[in-house]
Amino acid sequence: MTPSRPGAERWLPPEGGIDRLREAAETCEGCELFRDATQTVFGSGPADARIAFVGEQPGDDEDRSGAPFTGPAGRLLDKAFEQAGIDRSAAYVTNAVKHFKFVRLQSEGRRIHKKPGRGEVTACRPWLIAELNTVRPELVVALGATAAQSLMGPEFRLNSQRGVLHDLVFDGLTESTRLMATVHPSAVLRLRDPERKDAFAQFIVDLRKAAETMA
Ligand code: URA
Ligand code: SF4
Repeated sequence: MTPSRPGAERWLPPEGGIDRLREAAETCEGCELFRDATQTVFGSGPADARIAFVGEQPGDDEDRSGAPFTGPAGRLLDKAFEQAGIDRSAAYVTNAVKHFKFVRLQSEGRRIHKKPGRGEVTACRPWLIAELNTVRPELVVALGATAAQSLMGPEFRLNSQRGVLHDLVFDGLTESTRLMATVHPSAVLRLRDPERKDAFAQFIVDLRKAAETMA
């Protein structure tokens, strides 16, 4: 049995801004995922962003680039941002889990994304909370159920609650931050047309709504 690991808490710096957090996260060993991944993929964007987007975990591309949403899912997200009138450079973009979890296909050496488990999401949550407590955005957009459940609890259901504005109340976040959940861009990518077109259109509807709450 793999020994359980302590979670990210003990790697958190006692104080400092987003750069200090990012630097500390580089050496995190709060769960097993640090072992096989290339590097910690921390959030990126302005430290005073009014809107934050939270994905699931870095993928193969992000594991190499070191930044969130730089691969295929990121390109779809960029296209969606453009159509919804959201300026990515003004947004803080991060993930619920900061290391890439994967299985290696022996046949071709390809690394296939593996969904992080509840234990890994919980282990990594202190980083996400610390990021949000530092950036203090007005709106957090959860991209997919993993991010939404990390922030809203395991009972959160994406299907019934997507596009709805919630109050986000957690450890230390005192200002009124709101949360809206929508689908993960990878969920759109997995579909084929015409379902993909429909899912993308619905994603834009949610993102426009998010943009409007910021206006
Ligand atoms: N999927 C995510 O959830 N996050 C990334 O950064 C890339 C793909
Ligand atoms: Fe630490 Fe999160 Fe990486 Fe696990 S996934 S080692 S908790 S940064």
